[in-house]
Amino acid sequence: MDEEIAEWRTYAGEGVLLDGFHALKHALRFGARVPVAVARDREAALALARDLAPDLTGTLEGLLREVPDRTLGTLVPRPHPTGVAALALPAPGRTERALRDREAPLVVLDNPRNLGNVGAVVRLAAGCGAAGVLTTGTVDPWHPSCVRASAGLHFATAVAHREVPELPEGPLYAFDPDGEDLRGLTLPPDAMLAFGSERHGLTDAMRERADRLVALPMRPQVSSFNLATSAAMALYHWMAGARTQ
Ligand SMILES: C[S@@+](CC[C@H](N)C(=O)[O-])C[C@H]1O[C@@H](n2cnc3c(N)ncnc32)[C@H](O)[C@@H]1O
Repeated sequence: MDEEIAEWRTYAGEGVLLDGFHALKHALRFGARVPVAVARDREAALALARDLAPDLTGTLEGLLREVPDRTLGTLVPRPHPTGVAALALPAPGRTERALRDREAPLVVLDNPRNLGNVGAVVRLAAGCGAAGVLTTGTVDPWHPSCVRASAGLHFATAVAHREVPELPEGPLYAFDPDGEDLRGLTLPPDAMLAFGSERHGLTDAMRERADRLVALPMRPQVSSFNLATSAAMALYHWMAGARTQ
């Protein structure tokens, strides 16, 4: 068993924690290099694979090593209910390429506070085919709780931290209830869609960088939508428009 712990520690510094079967499944599907993967019950994990990811059954048979509950608890403080954990290595250079050669909007989260929201937006970006997700401020968008909330879909899109002056070129649409109605706009493919923090909204720096302030239609007396649901509406608007052009 010490062997699995030693192997895990070899990659723990540079590796991204994949917490649970679904995170491992998505990371493998989108080409992550996974040097180590463990399961509390290997046969149960393979049964899940046969049920939910038959495309990966062979890969997982070769990869998954069974470890006792105690060992899993040593590697991951609060193991996922599926009892699966792995480490994945991000592909070097991928983010820079994705941010430069954009053919779909890039989501920018301006100083987000909630790691679950960050992960939910990464999952949205991956599912909608957005160019990626950038975050400003102090949160690490690759924090294990963000990767858990995205179900490992960080590996299906570009995710990075950038401050406002480091944002790539392109028209920036900043979302705020006082802006112009999104329904009248067509979002260009190289647009950046910026959303403010859960407590304080958009920062002054982001407002200054913005080309337009955009509002999501909302009933009077409702203060605002949740951050991740706002990103979902904006990306859906882009997808619906892109399809009708
Ligand atoms: C929970 S809201 C922030 C609320 C915050 N108290 C404020 O003062 O803005 C998080 C972000 O979602 C976006 N958002 C929420 N509702 C919106 C709406 N109706 N129109 C445009 N953006 C919205 C904005 O980018 C906002 O900064």
